[in-house]
Amino acid sequence: MLRPIGPLRGEVALPGDKSISHRAFLLNALGIGHARVTGANPGADVASTRACLRALGVSILDRDGGFDVTGRAGVLRPSVDRLDCGNSGTTMRLLAGIVAAQSFTSTLDGDDSLRGRPMGRIATPLRHMGARVEGPHAGRRPPLIITGGELRGDRFELPVASAQLKSCVLLAAVTGSVAVQVVEPGPSRDHTERMLRAMGAPVETEGTVITLPATGDLACVDVSVPGDPSSAALVAVAVAAIAGSEVSFLNVLLNPRRCGFVDVLRRMGVTIGVHEATRVADEPTGTLKVTAANALLATTIEAHEIPALIDEVPALAVVMAQARGRSWIRGVAELRVKESDRVAAVIEMLAAFGIESAAEGDDLWIDGGVPRAPATLPASDDHRMIMAGAAMAWGCLREGETTKVVDAGPAAVSFPGFFPLVRGLADA
Ligand code: S3P
Repeated sequence: MLRPIGPLRGEVALPGDKSISHRAFLLNALGIGHARVTGANPGADVASTRACLRALGVSILDRDGGFDVTGRAGVLRPSVDRLDCGNSGTTMRLLAGIVAAQSFTSTLDGDDSLRGRPMGRIATPLRHMGARVEGPHAGRRPPLIITGGELRGDRFELPVASAQLKSCVLLAAVTGSVAVQVVEPGPSRDHTERMLRAMGAPVETEGTVITLPATGDLACVDVSVPGDPSSAALVAVAVAAIAGSEVSFLNVLLNPRRCGFVDVLRRMGVTIGVHEATRVADEPTGTLKVTAANALLATTIEAHEIPALIDEVPALAVVMAQARGRSWIRGVAELRVKESDRVAAVIEMLAAFGIESAAEGDDLWIDGGVPRAPATLPASDDHRMIMAGAAMAWGCLREGETTKVVDAGPAAVSFPGFFPLVRGLADA
């Protein structure tokens, strides 16, 4: 049950970044030597990645609050069972690249949400490289049955700016020791390239062209995972809307390809200080200090901004709903194939608060105003929708009102502890 909360104030450390956590396990599994991974995201998605890797013979020991990973120098062992990727698109798409270079057959499957997500985008380049990608839906959707082997390199012009697709191709190439060039239609998150470089692979990036020569050995690297900016955004939107709030997020990943939400919130009137402190696995990290806005202003997010804030659209929609006037989010097609159809889910969630919004082609508009908290949040299996809905409710609940969350469980996919963390900031 959600109740009105006072100003959010204090300093918080967030769960480790989910994208970096997946890669810390997947890439070190391919390396030579040992790596210590600390601060990994504690959610279900990254646990799926670890479970799949263990099933493929990778030793990942849970020790002293971190994990010891032993690299297998690119050679994995066939799994007796199907590889259960759970709810995680990153697990399935990145792992597909790795198993495409193994000389055995693997079956990758997931939950109902993942079973509905498009996989043809990875099947096409993997087949081109020489792997067999089959399944009851011919590789267009999970389950995927991948028979790997010797691969050949190529140049790929990707149809969507997707880090999962780009990483799938790069990981197939690095595991199969072949050269690839990948051209993206726009710059997606570049954690795979940065971590590969930190492990000694000569990856070169020029704009949206990534060149990976045939690579020999990767050296395992220790990764101390910084806080997840996508989790910061979900709390930041509550901070932005609750008068008198000011919260510092410590040790957060500050990769510019993940922090597009900072620019958007700033133009909506939210004060955000960014203080870069250090680098981890070639990634900038530091503090984000967010102060509530005096008045929230409507804005337009252009299509070219989407890749750097793709997971933050539900959170930003919450702020737009509380800013008077019409806001636009352009180029949201990819949002329809996330853990849920997030365009439809955002419209449904905002409607529950009495806020009108609609899709026009690939654009979404939101007529912001004064939302009223509903008695019950729309149910969803999508972690980011649950947390965005809660942030919205906190922003508009009045004395004596409550909003029921039917099932807060899905938040644990990326951010176990979201609800107590926000309440703790209100009590501080
Ligand atoms: C991710 C990439 C994004 C993002 C997802 C994590 C990653 O997906 O939405 O939550 O870790 O590579 P796409 O690459 O499909 O846009």
